[in-house]
Amino acid sequence: MELEPVLSTSGRLLDHLPELARRAIRPAVWAYVEAGAGGRLTVSEAEAAWRSVRFRTRVLRGGGDADLRTTLLGTEVSTPIAIAPTAMQRAVHPTGERGMAEGAGPDALHVVSSNCGTRFDDLRAPGPWWLQAYLPPDRELFRPVVEDAVTAGARAIVLTVDTPHPGTKRGVDEEDWSSVDLSWWRVNYPRADVGDWKTDLDLDDIGWLREAAGVPVVVKGVLRGDDAARCLDAGADAIFVSNHGGRQLDRAASTASALREVAAAVGDRTEVYVDGGIRSGADVLAALALGARGVLVGRPALWALGVDGGRGVGRLLAELTEELRECLELAGCACPDDAPDLL
Ligand SMILES: Cc1cc2nc3c(=O)[nH]c(=O)nc-3n(C[C@H](O)[C@H](O)[C@H](O)COP(=O)(O)O)c2cc1C
Repeated sequence: MELEPVLSTSGRLLDHLPELARRAIRPAVWAYVEAGAGGRLTVSEAEAAWRSVRFRTRVLRGGGDADLRTTLLGTEVSTPIAIAPTAMQRAVHPTGERGMAEGAGPDALHVVSSNCGTRFDDLRAPGPWWLQAYLPPDRELFRPVVEDAVTAGARAIVLTVDTPHPGTKRGVDEEDWSSVDLSWWRVNYPRADVGDWKTDLDLDDIGWLREAAGVPVVVKGVLRGDDAARCLDAGADAIFVSNHGGRQLDRAASTASALREVAAAVGDRTEVYVDGGIRSGADVLAALALGARGVLVGRPALWALGVDGGRGVGRLLAELTEELRECLELAGCACPDDAPDLL
């Protein structure tokens, strides 16, 4: 399969992306991108869980063209679909995080990993971006990182709480990593020896980060209603339902199955976002119907970046957004806010 013919046809890019990306991305990095924890049960269930959602479509509402614009923590975006934080983007494509930011464009949200290989002041993001945070054992060492990000334009911090340490991913270490520049890792840390992970994360870290950042804090990795409520009580500004793309605890619940409970626990208090296995506009509609306000893609954005840099990412987002538009219109919804009525 040649890259250019596929990219220039009007066919569905996402149908070809995994195979094109496997060819474009060097084997060790490809193994890292595709990896799942343990026996990959959680990875393998993610997509099917979205596909099992059925809609009670609405008719005769006079909706006309659907309007996909929305806001995510007060930031206006042209689509509820956003880019999830992922590390090693410079190993996936030379443009790395800059390519990803360019692909997200001026009107879509992009979350930058704290392990990223591009300095925040070199990101040149044309649109809104948030910083994802992994806290190191001494969280004070993260303070300058978060301050630099906010100075460079990050509008919120996404605290990942499902990673007291990285889950074991079979096969990744056996690959030949000699061609991959491992200095593309945590380039925004003032020192290299901050240690790896804060293994005893608790609710107090939410308040600490909020104070350190001075911008809203989103908690990523929540799969239960009671945890969502605890996070909000501790000062979180929004909840992000995620199982880390099946890369942490294998047999963690699918995000599609967890989302409704979390959204019910959050109620009108704030916004809920979700990721994991989103591969079509219909999947996005299912997520909106189950209570998400923002829906993020991880691996598909890396595949698109690896295949065609920012242009690929832009095309992926446009394709998913157009699919969502059609789904909303066929379901009788005028805008994403109408979707919860479909279940
Ligand atoms: C290669 C790779 C690297 C990732 N790196 C991070 C990271 O640095 N921080 C984080 O919070 N999540 C990270 N994630 C998880 C994603 O943010 C997201 O939760 C997941 O990819 C969503 O599932 P999907 O890939 O099926 O869309 C990573 C995922 C992948 C595939």
